[in-house]
Amino acid sequence: MKPLQIAILGCGSRGRTYSRIACSLEGRYQITAAADLVEVRTSAVAELAPEGSVRTFRSAEDLFAAGKLADVLVIATQDADHFGHAVTALKSGYDLLLEKPAAESLARCEELDALARSLGRRIALGFVLRYTPFYRAVKAVVDSGRLGKIITLRASEGVEPYHQAHSYVRGHWSKTGSSTPMIVAKCSHDTDLLCWLSGSAPRSVSSFGRLEWFRAQNAPAGAPPRCTDGCPAAADCAYDAHRYLTDKRGWLRMVMDHSETAEDSQILDFLKSSPWGRCVYRCDNDAVDHQVLSAELENGVTATLSMTAFDLGRTIEIHGTLGSLRGGSPFQTAGAPELWLREHRTDTWETIPVVAPEAAGYAGHGGGDFGLVDALDAMFQGPNAMPPGLDGLDGHRLAFLAEASRIQGGVPLPAPVPMKNG
Ligand SMILES: NC(=O)c1ccc[n+]([C@@H]2O[C@H](COP(=O)([O-])OP(=O)(O)OC[C@H]3O[C@@H](n4cnc5c(N)ncnc54)[C@H](O)[C@@H]3O)[C@@H](O)[C@H]2O)c1
Repeated sequence: MKPLQIAILGCGSRGRTYSRIACSLEGRYQITAAADLVEVRTSAVAELAPEGSVRTFRSAEDLFAAGKLADVLVIATQDADHFGHAVTALKSGYDLLLEKPAAESLARCEELDALARSLGRRIALGFVLRYTPFYRAVKAVVDSGRLGKIITLRASEGVEPYHQAHSYVRGHWSKTGSSTPMIVAKCSHDTDLLCWLSGSAPRSVSSFGRLEWFRAQNAPAGAPPRCTDGCPAAADCAYDAHRYLTDKRGWLRMVMDHSETAEDSQILDFLKSSPWGRCVYRCDNDAVDHQVLSAELENGVTATLSMTAFDLGRTIEIHGTLGSLRGGSPFQTAGAPELWLREHRTDTWETIPVVAPEAAGYAGHGGGDFGLVDALDAMFQGPNAMPPGLDGLDGHRLAFLAEASRIQGGVPLPAPVPMKNG
C-alpha cells in the first residue's frame, strides 16, 4: 500500500498524539498539512515530519481554502466544531478520522452519516478502546462463539476523581451546552463498546444521573473561588490545583502549551487565571458525576453501564448461553486476572491472555491510540477498507438517547405510605 496521506485539523492534545504515532510508523503515513489557531501547535506537528513536508495553516478555513491536501483529514478540534468541520471536509473530498463525539446532537450525527454515504466517503471515529489489546481480546472471545448467544452485557466506567475534576468540572467538557453531555463526551466509548461487542443497534434505553458532588454546597468552609488564593482546606483537599505542580503535572500537557518545560512560577501564573486553578466546588460546571443507563438492543441483549467519577478504570462482563467473560483493570488491580472466562457446562475458569502486539507503542495509554493509528491505513485503503458512512453511529445513538432519557426522568414512585407505629 502507498503511504496514507493525512492532514491534521486541530493540533491540540489529540491531534498531536495521533501525529506523533503516525510519524513513528515509518513509511505508512505522510502528514501533509496541519492547522490550528495556535501557531506553536501546528509547529509541534510539523517538527515531527521531515523538514518542509507539512504545510501549516492558522485556521480550518485556511486549510479548506487550500483544496484537498491528503487522503484523510484527522479532525481533532473541540466537540462543538466537529459537525461544521466534518461537513466541509466531506464536501472537499476527504475521508475522515473524526474525534468522538461525531457531533453535538444525534440529528447531526445522522446527517453526517447520510452525507458521507451520499458522497461515498468514510468516517472513522476516535474509538481508541476498540484497538486496545484488552478489548481486542474481549472481541476475539465473543467472535469465537465460546460464550454462545450473548444475553447480558454489564459495563462500568470509573473516571477517577481528579480526572473528573480536570476534564468535567474545571475543563473542556464541564458545561454540556458548549460541549456534549458526559454520557456522550466520556461514555460514547462505552456505548460504542456495548453495540460493537454485541453486534447490535439499540432498541430502547433509560438512564438516570446527576451532578452530586462538585457543587458549591459541598465546598469546605472558607474555600475561595481559586486554589491559588490560599485555601484553608488545601491540605486535606484531593482536588488542590497545586497538585498540577507535582503528581498531577501530566494533566497540564493537555491544556497548557509548553507545560513540560515550564518553571513552577509559570504554572502558578497559569493556575491563577485559567479554569484549572478554580476550586472544584465553585465552577460553572453542569456535567454529571454519576450516571447509569440500561438498554435493550435490537438483538434482544440487555446492557447496562454505570459511570461514576468515584472509581478508577473500566470493567466489562458479557454473559452468554455457554459462558461468561469478565474483566477490566479494577479486577486486575484487586489481584484477579485482567480477563477470565467461565464455561457454564463444566464450571471451569480460564484466564484469557491479553497480549499487546509486538510494536512498542501499544504499551502506553492502554495501547488504544497506537492501535487506532496502526489500523488506520487499512481502514481507508485496500481490500478491507470500511464502507462509506459513519462507523459507530449505533453507540452514539445509544448515548444521545440515554441523555434524553436522563433529562426526561423516570417514572416517579408514589409518595411512601406512612408506616404504622412509627
Ligand atoms: N478519543 C479519545 O479518547 C479522546 C480523548 C480526549 C479527547 N477527545 C476528543 O478529541 C477532541 C480534541 O480534544 P483535545 O483534548 O485534543 O482538545 P484541545 O483543546 O487540546 O485541541 C483542540 C485544538 O483545536 C484547535 N482549534 C479549535 N478551533 C479551530 C479552528 N477553527 N481551526 C483550527 N484549529 C482549531 C484548538 O486551538 C486546539 O489546539 C475533542 O472533541 C475531544 O472530545 C477524544
